[in-house]
Amino acid sequence: MMTLSTCTCIDLFAGTGAFSHVLAKYGIQCVYANDMEKSSQAIYTANHSHQFHLKNLLEVDVVNEIPPHDILCGGFPCQPFSIAGQQKGFDDARANVFWKILDILKTHKPRVIILENVKNLTTHDKTNTFRIIREELEKLHYHLTYRVLDTCKVSPIPHHRERIYIVGFLDEGLSKRFHLAFQPCETMAPLCSLMQADVPDKYYYTDRLKVFGTVQEGVTQHISSNTIYQYRRYYVRENKSNCCPTLTANMGSGGHNVPLLKDDRGIRKLTPRECFNLQGFPPTYTLPALSDSALYKLAGNAVSVPVVDCIVGRLVEAMAGADGDGDESGTESGAESSESPTQSE
Ligand SMILES: C[S@@+](CC[C@H](N)C(=O)[O-])C[C@H]1O[C@@H](n2cnc3c(N)ncnc32)[C@H](O)[C@@H]1O
Repeated sequence: MMTLSTCTCIDLFAGTGAFSHVLAKYGIQCVYANDMEKSSQAIYTANHSHQFHLKNLLEVDVVNEIPPHDILCGGFPCQPFSIAGQQKGFDDARANVFWKILDILKTHKPRVIILENVKNLTTHDKTNTFRIIREELEKLHYHLTYRVLDTCKVSPIPHHRERIYIVGFLDEGLSKRFHLAFQPCETMAPLCSLMQADVPDKYYYTDRLKVFGTVQEGVTQHISSNTIYQYRRYYVRENKSNCCPTLTANMGSGGHNVPLLKDDRGIRKLTPRECFNLQGFPPTYTLPALSDSALYKLAGNAVSVPVVDCIVGRLVEAMAGADGDGDESGTESGAESSESPTQSE
């Protein structure tokens, strides 16, 4: 029987290295980490001692550059799968990194795959994209379980972040012992517990900024009342769920989703470290000397650390032959909308 302590993994589209970070906690050694962004290399190598491969995955020689491994992890970029769906040509289809993932699976046949993507993947191109993904993985004999999971429902981290997680197994028995139905987490950390003290002035809004009036009018509650706001291009929206709205990759580059809060000194943006806290990274996770916009982008793109932790925990249970604590009666904390897939085998 496969045991986790002897397993190896690869981390594709590694970004922050969140997958490697969680899997290392379970004793799973990462034997290949890849991303084509230098910012990813900077944060990955600041937190992991093994080699990082800075290269476009499409240019990687799957046979000679990627070692054998047991678990393939990847929060793959969502590119225009519809091209493949509409069969507009082999060359176009090859440009999509999903086909590269399939090449890796064909070559190395990892026993487990853990993929993450935006929730919209399931509805993209009238659901054709997701159907193709499932079919292609199933053709390679993977038994799939997938579910939309929200960070603030499965963990105490107050971040509303719905993502689809697709877990596949070559071993049907293992797949049958695995599921992604989680009991709703009953506790939620107060937002202010994830915020920093002594935040530098540059994060505060002042009357030097054109949007100051709008922001001042909209951001009225102190963070201690568990309220966070979002600047959405022309107006400020209060988040009423005591949760931070989904962090996005463009929040540091004039994007319209900048989370805002009011503290004792005034109204300010979240700092990069606070964004990493909201993604569940520990305070010991090193943030390298990159621009704030690069750090916001890394944080906004990252896979949720506590959600991956829950999934790998389930993997441990499945490998031990035990059932998890999932409630199949429908009270699970995943898929909330009727369009969202729940689980499939
Ligand atoms: C959604 S992010 C993944 C984030 C990562 N899972 C994490 O936890 O931080 C997608 C990543 O894919 C990388 N990427 C996109 N296309 C790539 C390619 N062709 N080759 C290598 N990396 C690529 C981007 O640089 C980005 O870091």
